[in-house]
Order: sequence, then C-alpha cells, then structure tokens
Amino acid sequence: MNHGDSLFFRQYARKEQNQQGFTNLLLVGLGDAKRVTHETIRRASATAFKNLKANSVKSVTIAVETLPLTAKNKEENLRAVFEGFYLSEYTFEIYKSVPNKSNAKETPKMKVSILTSLAGNTTSAKSAEKEARIVAEAVNFARTIGDTPGNEMNPPILGETTKKAATGTGLKVTIWDGARIKKEKMGNLHGVSLGGGEDPRLIIMEYKGGAKSKKPICFVGKGLTFDSGGISLKPGAGMEEMKYDMMGGAAVIATMLAIAKLKLKVNVIGIVPSSENMPGPFANKPGDITTARNGKTTEVNNTDAEGRLILSDALVYASEQKPEFIVDAATLTGAMVMALGDVHTGFFSRDTKLTQKITKAAAASGETLWEMPMHEEHLKDMKGTYADLQNVSQRRGAGSAQGAIYLGEFVEKDIPWAHFDIAGTAYNNGHRLPYTPAKGASGVIVRTFVELAKQHK
Ligand code: BES
Ligand code: ZN
Ligand code: ZN
Repeated sequence: MNHGDSLFFRQYARKEQNQQGFTNLLLVGLGDAKRVTHETIRRASATAFKNLKANSVKSVTIAVETLPLTAKNKEENLRAVFEGFYLSEYTFEIYKSVPNKSNAKETPKMKVSILTSLAGNTTSAKSAEKEARIVAEAVNFARTIGDTPGNEMNPPILGETTKKAATGTGLKVTIWDGARIKKEKMGNLHGVSLGGGEDPRLIIMEYKGGAKSKKPICFVGKGLTFDSGGISLKPGAGMEEMKYDMMGGAAVIATMLAIAKLKLKVNVIGIVPSSENMPGPFANKPGDITTARNGKTTEVNNTDAEGRLILSDALVYASEQKPEFIVDAATLTGAMVMALGDVHTGFFSRDTKLTQKITKAAAASGETLWEMPMHEEHLKDMKGTYADLQNVSQRRGAGSAQGAIYLGEFVEKDIPWAHFDIAGTAYNNGHRLPYTPAKGASGVIVRTFVELAKQHK
C-alpha cells in the first residue's frame, strides 16, 4: 500500500470503527502499488495472519476494498488474500502429548469475514474466499498426510484416508491391493513393494464434471510412504525426511479433492501408486529384472531409484485412459535438489502446448517453476544391458533428466505429458514462504495442478 492508500485506509477505518465497532486495526503495507502481484498479497496476508494469531485474535474482517484491484488482476488478488490466510492456519501438533498453545485442537480457527459496507467487490470477494478456502484446505490436507509419520501413513492407510476424504465430494475412488496390482501386470510397482511389510496400493480417483464425450486429464503422483532406499540403503542421516516421499501422491489426492469441491467442468483422473521401499528379505536386489504393465523390462540396478518404477506402471495405466494430457508429480531425484534448491520446482515436457499451459497455470497460482531440459540423448543412458531399460545410469550428471526420460518410456507417444520433480520443494522450505510451515510438508504443486484443471477447456 502506498502512502496515499494507507492514509485513506486510516480515515476510513476510523469511520468504520464508529459504525461497526471494530476494536483493533491492522494496517498492512504492500509496497509500491504498481508492483504489487498476487504473490505479494498472499505473503502479506500470511504475515498479517501470523501477527493476528500471535495476538490471540479470534475474528477478523478484511477490507478488500483497499487492495490495488484492477479488472485484470482482481480475481487473483482477492483469492491471494484468503489463500495467504488459510494456508497459514496449518499446524501439525497432534502427536504432542502436551498440547501447544497453537494446537489446532485447542485453538478454534480464526473467523474470517469480508467488510461488506462498501459496494462493488463484495460478490467477487465472497467467491474468491470460497475458492481460496477450498484450495488452501486441499493444500493443508496434503501437508497433513505428508507430515504424518511412515508408521501411521502407509499405503493401506493412504488409501483409506483418500476414500474418507472423498466421501460426499462426487469423486469415485477405486483402490487396488497388492494381489490386484500383481494380477494387473504392474510388475515394477509390485517389485518395489516386496521389500516392505505393508501391502502396496494403486489409488484411482475419478471425477466427471465435463461432457461425457470429453477426454479426461490425468494426474499421477508418487505415493512412496517411506523410502529407506531398499537394499541400496540410504545413509542414516536425514533418512526420516523420506516419509515425505509421498508428497507427489498427496498433491494429486489434494488436487482431486479441490477439483471436485470446486465442481470444475472437466473430466479428471488421479492415479497414485503407493508403496514402501524397504530392505526386507524379499526386496528387489540390484540387478533384478522386473516387467512393467506395457511389457517393458527394467534392470533394477539401484533399488533407491524406486519412484520411477512405481510411477511407470501408473503412467501405463494413465495412458490406457486415453487422456488429453498426463502430468505427474514426484519427489524423484536428489539431483533436482542440487540443481534448483528449494525455490523452484523443475518440470520436464516434450510438448510445447502443454508447457505453455503449465507456465500459465503457475503464473496464476503463484508457485515458482523452472522448465528443465530433457533430450533423447538421456534415454541412451537408461538402456539396459540385459533388459530393455535400467533404472539408473552409470553416467554421471543430469540425474533428474535421466529419471524423467525413463518415465517417458511408459507414456503413450501421442499423449502430451509433463513430469514435475518436487524433491526440492515438497518440504522444509517454509523459510522462503510465510504461508508455509518452516519445517514440514509444503503442499507444493496442488495450486498449479488445480489451475491446470481450471484452465482446461
Ligand atoms: N526419494 C528419492 C529422491 C529424493 C532425494 C527426494 C532427496 C527428496 C530428497 C528417490 O527415490 C531416490 O532415492 N533417488 C535416487 C536416484 C538415484 C539412485 C539414481 C537419488 O536421487 O539419489
Ligand atoms: Zn529412493
Ligand atoms: Zn523415493
């Protein structure tokens, strides 16, 4: 807010106080009005929320009229106000035996309302609030299943949690167990699951909001509930973070819930292959060969490159649905963390039209993406000696592109497809964003995926 605005705001507030009895006033500066984006507002709103919460405020009325709203950015800016608020509400303290002051169970949610005394923006503010609430609640749902530890969020529980959350939304949820996965010839997913004690799941969510004749769009997410690395065991330090290896899957489940609750006029299928990756006696051994649903064979030369294995069968299944396009999200490679850190999510696609759609969706969501290169040369690295493919390359460098191009071998060639590697952005990046917990799941990519569905005509 520039100086003129805040002056206006103050005078106006005094007037409001007399009429409506407000006791406290929080002024939020947004900087140069010409340079304000919806992300500026989202962050400012989150900072304001934290301030109010620290002061134990129980209800707040937002004067959206004071925002720099032009016809072009109005909807996005209004939504950002509420997204910043609701995303900041998230806490995860259910495992503390002594409740914290900020424990969600103890503290009722702050009541948020919109100042309605001024005509003009009230209707759009109300619909923006509703949309923001649905999306933020979906993001917070993804965060909750991510933060829940591996012993309490294994593949069967993830399936049940999805079913429960989908009740009453119009989503159809179908869940395949280990026996069905094997029968359906998903040998790569089945192979990964053999090392763990928990049975794997394939979670299929269908939403039909569009015309019957319209092709669906497909979201696929890696739902690896704990990645120990398997026989190619990971080092112990930081291994606890591998409970977040299902954040791609969580993002897809959350996206589907949001799409259904927003009643978008699209047909969408969400697919989440879910497994543990453990080093039990029946685990994949380096060199083992498994066969995916499309018949392609893979030498599992490193059991820690399991994400691409479980996703491969899900991508074959997604291709069989003949969708308009497929996008997948996965905490796939440590190389992605090295390349881009925790600000940008890297995405890979060979389809320029889909790339444009993604760029547009991200611009509207406020999430930061970076397009990564993927070349047929990378595929040479992934050719097997004894099988069609291998799940790791002996060649150093471009590890994320190698993972991406491996996935591409399981997508029907004429279907536009993009892969999002969220390894660097899925958790512990809250120091970047005031509406994300400092430590814990971020819920990244849900907002962009919802936008993709929204913009799909
Ligand atoms: N889940 C990991 C990737 C990961 C690493 C996610 C760090 C988040 C943070 C994945 O399954 C994995 O272990 N990938 C291997 C692949 C390698 C063996 C080719 C990796 O990146 O080291
Ligand atoms: Zn791994
Ligand atoms: Zn993994």
